[in-house]
Amino acid sequence: MNSKRIFLSTPTMHGEEMGYIKEAFEKNWIAPLGFNCDGFEQELAAYLSGEGDPLYALSLSSGTAALHLGVKLAGVKRGEKVLCSDMTFSATVNPVTYEGGIPVFIDAERDSWNMDPEALEEAFRKHPEARVVMLAHLYGTPAKMDELLDVCRRHNAVLIEDAAEALSAAYHGQKCGTFGDYNAISFNGNKIITTSGGGMLLTVSKEARDKAFFWATQSRDPAPWYQHSEIGYNYRMSNVLAGIGRGQLLHLEEHRDRKEAIYRRYEKAFADLPVAMNPVLPDTRANFWLSCLLIDEGAGDPMALMEKLAAENIEARPIWKPMHMQPVFAHCDFVSTAPAPVNEDIFRRGLCLPSDIKMTPEEQDRVIDLIRSSF
Ligand SMILES: Cc1ncc(COP(=O)(O)O)c(C=O)c1O
Repeated sequence: MNSKRIFLSTPTMHGEEMGYIKEAFEKNWIAPLGFNCDGFEQELAAYLSGEGDPLYALSLSSGTAALHLGVKLAGVKRGEKVLCSDMTFSATVNPVTYEGGIPVFIDAERDSWNMDPEALEEAFRKHPEARVVMLAHLYGTPAKMDELLDVCRRHNAVLIEDAAEALSAAYHGQKCGTFGDYNAISFNGNKIITTSGGGMLLTVSKEARDKAFFWATQSRDPAPWYQHSEIGYNYRMSNVLAGIGRGQLLHLEEHRDRKEAIYRRYEKAFADLPVAMNPVLPDTRANFWLSCLLIDEGAGDPMALMEKLAAENIEARPIWKPMHMQPVFAHCDFVSTAPAPVNEDIFRRGLCLPSDIKMTPEEQDRVIDLIRSSF
């Protein structure tokens, strides 16, 4: 095995990032606050809100921190049930438990692989006391927002939107990361743009943003000495890393388009195979963060395919294992209205394919040829 490794999704830097970092060094703003944090917040908020309601942004050490502060802003209390996406990374759900909340997992629908509005409605019927929904857009594919928002409104629910994987994706022209009362983006190294590690909380409420800032900076009361009336966190983003984010933001749309080109090439190359690509709803704009395969029932084993690719130095990954199948969440309720859980089926038959935007067409052909030869 001597061919160059092909990765799932790695950082792609362009050069402008260094300009912002250099300025931070020159001005000695090597701190978890400063002009790059402020600039990154304003630039991302402006990008996401567009012509819509202005957004207030807070740059943080991770997407998980943004979700945690969202859960705190939603006022989740110990023992409170929170209705959560089921097929997602555990970071969507962990912050619910940091506050003592109890996740109730909601199955997905097959049209976007995201939270099923019918199952959400059923979950509100089963748990009428629930008042917070935690929704993730899987792999950068927008969920059925009209239907989900309708269910949330009818039940007066607070929506926390986990758009960690979905920056630049949009549903009916509105960008993911702007639908929730509290919205989270991740800049982890594998995301569509990165700060190596980092996150952003976005909300239309200035008051909420200010409260989140207070918690993220150790909850320091406005007193002349160090005084604390609440427990705080050290969650702020470094001014150096925010500089990387500002440089990356200049290339976000280009990254998205390159991700889509990868997806379209796979889609075309596999058109005659017993497989389907991860679906995208009409009138939505996915960011195609990861291209995924769903193998027809009985036509092949995704784990065997993953091993075959690994043997050729190609990185593929399983679909996120649904949260209701995780040992740590075995005690939590799972709600589905499908004849059999959709998420278990997608997990069993799905595989995430290399979606790195530095992958050349020749390298992608290596992936395609190997996959084609497996059917
Ligand atoms: C859906 C989802 N939610 C939350 C996170 C957490 O983001 P972070 O790694 O920045 O904490 C990630 C990715 O890591 C994710 O994929």
